[in-house]
Amino acid sequence: MCGIVAYIGNREATPILLEGLKRLEYRGYDSAGLAVVNGGLKVCRAVGRVSVLEERVEGDGGFTGTLGLAHTRWATHGSVTEANAHPHHDERNGIALVHNGIIENYAALKTYLQERGHVFKSETDTEVLTRLIGELYDGDLESAVQAALREVTGAYAIAVICEREPDSLVVARKGSPLIVGIGSDEYIIASDPSAIVAHAAQALTLEDYNVVKVTREGFRSSTLDNIPLTPKVQQLELDLEQIELGSYSHYMQKEIFEQPNALRNTLRGRLDRAEGRVVLGGVSAFAKEIVKARRFILTAQGTALHSAMIGEYLLEDLAKVPTECEYASEFRYRNPIIEDGTVVVAVSQSGETADTLSALHEAHERGALALGVVNVVGSTIARETDAGIYLRVGPEIGVASTKAFTGQVAVLTLLAMFVARRRFMSPDDCADLIRELEAIPGKIETILAGAERIREVTEKHIERENWLFLGRGYNYPVAMEGALKLKEISYIHAEGMPAAEMKHGPIALINDGMPAVFLANRGRQYDKVMSNISEVKSRGGHIIAVATEGDQNIRSLADDVLYVPECPECLSPMLTVVPLQLMAYYAAVARGHDVDKPRNLAKSVTVE
Ligand code: F6R
Repeated sequence: MCGIVAYIGNREATPILLEGLKRLEYRGYDSAGLAVVNGGLKVCRAVGRVSVLEERVEGDGGFTGTLGLAHTRWATHGSVTEANAHPHHDERNGIALVHNGIIENYAALKTYLQERGHVFKSETDTEVLTRLIGELYDGDLESAVQAALREVTGAYAIAVICEREPDSLVVARKGSPLIVGIGSDEYIIASDPSAIVAHAAQALTLEDYNVVKVTREGFRSSTLDNIPLTPKVQQLELDLEQIELGSYSHYMQKEIFEQPNALRNTLRGRLDRAEGRVVLGGVSAFAKEIVKARRFILTAQGTALHSAMIGEYLLEDLAKVPTECEYASEFRYRNPIIEDGTVVVAVSQSGETADTLSALHEAHERGALALGVVNVVGSTIARETDAGIYLRVGPEIGVASTKAFTGQVAVLTLLAMFVARRRFMSPDDCADLIRELEAIPGKIETILAGAERIREVTEKHIERENWLFLGRGYNYPVAMEGALKLKEISYIHAEGMPAAEMKHGPIALINDGMPAVFLANRGRQYDKVMSNISEVKSRGGHIIAVATEGDQNIRSLADDVLYVPECPECLSPMLTVVPLQLMAYYAAVARGHDVDKPRNLAKSVTVE
C-alpha cells in the first residue's frame, strides 16, 4: 500500500527519494509525489508510475536541496487524482506532509479547520492532518506535530517538513510502520527497510506514539506529550542482494525459485533428528500453554489464510487439538467465543495486515494466548503477539505471495509437530517426519527443474477465461491458493474448491475444454479424486492433474499431468502448490501483464 521515504543530510535529496520510491513500487500504488525544502517549499505530484513523477521533477530542474520527502499513494479517501496524491501542504507555513494510514476523526477536524479559514484542495484525510499541524504551528514543527497528533484518532506513519525549519524533519508513528535509517551524517526515513538498505546499516524502528525530530546532527525521540524516550538503534537485517532482481525477470519468479533455500532457512536449527523433536525458540517460554491448548484458532487473510487452513489440518491430524481457521475480517466482528486454553495464531507475511491485527487484538483481549507466524521481523503483529515463529524466508517483494506461503506451511507443520511430540507422538515417528521435512527443499528443486513443461501446459490454455482448481483434504487449500494466484496476476477468473463440492453446483460451469486443475497426488482420498476427475472429464473439461511421480494410472484420465515427488500427505502442499504458482506466473507473462505490479493490488493491506 502507501509508501514513505524522507531524507535529511548533505547529499541531494531528490535522487535518493526517487530511488527509494522505486524500491517501494512493489507495495502497490496509484500516484506519487515529492517535496523538497531549499529556500522555499517545492512540491510535485503525479498520477501513475514513479517514472511519471521522475520525468516531471527532472524536467522542472528546481528540485534541489538536502531535505525532502516523498510518497506512493494507494487510494483510500478520495479517488486517484493529482490533488489527492501526497505530499499535502499548508501554504500558510510552508509545511509538507506524507502519510500512511487513516485519520478516523478527519471529518470533525476538517469542520474545525474550515471554520478557521482553511480551504481544502483534496478529498483526503491527510490534508486535514497537514492543515491541523499548520494551524497549531508556532515556530516549532516538532511541538506542532505532537499537538496535532494528540487530537487525532486512527493510524498513521507521517513525515513532515517545513520551509521555515530547513534543518529538521519530524516523523511519527501509530499503527503503521516507520524506520529511521542511520547513515553517515544523513538519515533516510522509510515505511519499509527496502528503501533505506542501500544507504544505512543501522536503524531506529519507531514505536506507536513516538515522535522523532531528525536533524543532520542526530535525532531526538519523544512521546506525544514531549516526554523524551531512549531510542533503540538496531542493525538492519537486510542486504541489498536480497531485494535486487539479479538474473530473474520478475520478483515473483525469483521468489518461486528461491523456495528451496528459503525453506532450508525456515527449518535451520529447528529440527533435532537425533532426539526426534522440534525446537522452537520463539515460543519456548509459552511451551506449557501451547502444549496444553484446548483449541487453536488460526486467523489470516488471502494466501496466508490458505496456509492457515493447511495448519488447521496439521494441528488436528498430527497434534489432535481441535482447531478452527477463519478469515480475520470475519472472526473479528462475529463476537467470537474464546474459552480458557485457547491459542490464537495470526499468520501473516507482512505482519501489518489490518484485518489480521484486529482479529489478534480481539482474541488477545478475550484472554487467548496470541502467537504470530510472521515473515517481517519487528512488524506490528510480531511485536503485539505474546510469542511467535518467524518464517525466515527473506523479503517477499512480488505482490503475489509465493515463498511466504510455503514458509508459513513449513512453520505450521513445525508447530503441529512441536505440540504432537509433547503430547503423544513418539521420538521415532517425529524423527521420520523430520527426515521427510528435510527432503522437501530438494523435492521442490526437482519440480522447478521441470518449469518449462509447466509453462507449455499453461500456454495451451491461455485464451480461456475460466479455470477450476480442485483438491481434497490437505490439498483443498492448495486449490484455493492456485485459483487466487491465477486471478491476481493474470486476471483470469478462477475458482478453487473442495473437489467434492464441484458436483453440488459449480459443475454447471464446465464446458468444452475448460481447464480444471486437479490436485491428484497420492493420499487418503486419491480414489475419490479420480472419480471427481471422471465427472469433469465426461462433461468436456480439460484435466490438468498434479500427480505423484510414477503414477501412470492418472494418464488415462488426465489430458496433462504435472508430476511432483512422493512425500507424506501432510507435507504435500509444499510441493503441489509449486506447479500452480508457476502456472499463474507463466499465464500472466503470456498475457503481457506486469507480474510484480498487478492492477489494484497492494503488498501489505493496512486498511480493514
Ligand atoms: C496473495 C497475497 C495476499 C496476502 C494477504 C495477507 O498473493 O499476497 O492475499 O496473502 O493480503 O497478507 P499478509 O500475509 O501480509 O498478512
